[in-house]
Amino acid sequence: MIEKLKSLKEKIDGIELTSAELTEEFRIKYLSRKGLLNDLFEEFKVIANDQKKEVGKTMNVVKQAIQQKWEEASQKFNKQDEKPTQQVDLTLPGEPAKLGSRHPLLLVEKQIVDVFSRLGFSLSYGPEIEDDWHNFSGLNFPENHPARDMQDTFFIDKEMALRTHTSSVQVRLMENQQPPLRAIMPGRVYRNEAISARAHCFFHQVEGIYINKDVSFADLKQTLYHFVTEFFGKDFNIRFRPSYFPFTEPSAEMDISCTICKGKGCNVCKHSGWVEILGCGMIDPNVLDANGIDAREYSGFAFGMGIERITMLKYNVKDLRLFSTNDLRFLQQFEGE
Ligand code: PHE
Repeated sequence: MIEKLKSLKEKIDGIELTSAELTEEFRIKYLSRKGLLNDLFEEFKVIANDQKKEVGKTMNVVKQAIQQKWEEASQKFNKQDEKPTQQVDLTLPGEPAKLGSRHPLLLVEKQIVDVFSRLGFSLSYGPEIEDDWHNFSGLNFPENHPARDMQDTFFIDKEMALRTHTSSVQVRLMENQQPPLRAIMPGRVYRNEAISARAHCFFHQVEGIYINKDVSFADLKQTLYHFVTEFFGKDFNIRFRPSYFPFTEPSAEMDISCTICKGKGCNVCKHSGWVEILGCGMIDPNVLDANGIDAREYSGFAFGMGIERITMLKYNVKDLRLFSTNDLRFLQQFEGE
């Protein structure tokens, strides 16, 4: 039996396990329950007692050789088996870089500015922190006049405040330029108001002015009518209601027929069929004179519209707060616009 075991050991030393399949075959042939090693132990049981010691030793050597060979090979191939799952697959396409989208308010601001720039209006900006003159006094709001309460103001100190409207930029233009003056002025404004679906403590406006010789209310109406048909389409009506602003005389507010219910009546237009989108009027001669433009020679119109309101109408947004809460589910709907 010793001879048999020795030649088996030689045979095993000569085997090369070069693949996972060969290793598995080797395991079945030698190490499984019906494998060669078990057969040998069966044989070992019946040999004569005086030979057991020597044969046992040799058997152990053979057994260890078999086990060692299998362990080494299976470790090697198992590792290799795992490798492909850990490796980076360089042929996979990369993750696409996400593009941001324009904020709906900026989108609409741009659309509004585009319409007016085609009419020859130039673009101007002014500061959000304003002095009393540009926000109030220069616009014919007398000191201590109740008209100042129309717009609840965030004061910074006695002289400075966050501007309550973009009309402050009108004053800045008039004091620096002589007519003809035709400009559009977008920007953010602030009012001390409780935040709700319909009001916010900051919002956005686009101001417009046209000052020249013989500018009339008819010019104002035509310009705004052109804007509405360009921006919303031809299916909408506009109407003017008399109103009051210290810096325009006469003053009006303009409504458009509700874009959401097409004038039939809904929650957004409070069942009136009309939605107010801007304030406007002929610039008060006091304002022209106070800012260095001769009111006997020139006249002009001005208007100021709320960008939030117009965006809500155009994109059917029902809550103003959505514009400032940065909810990506809302903002991503404007991708590609
Ligand atoms: N500034 C006014 C407002 O914020 C709107 C307006 C602008 C009215 C220009 C007339 C002329 O309510």
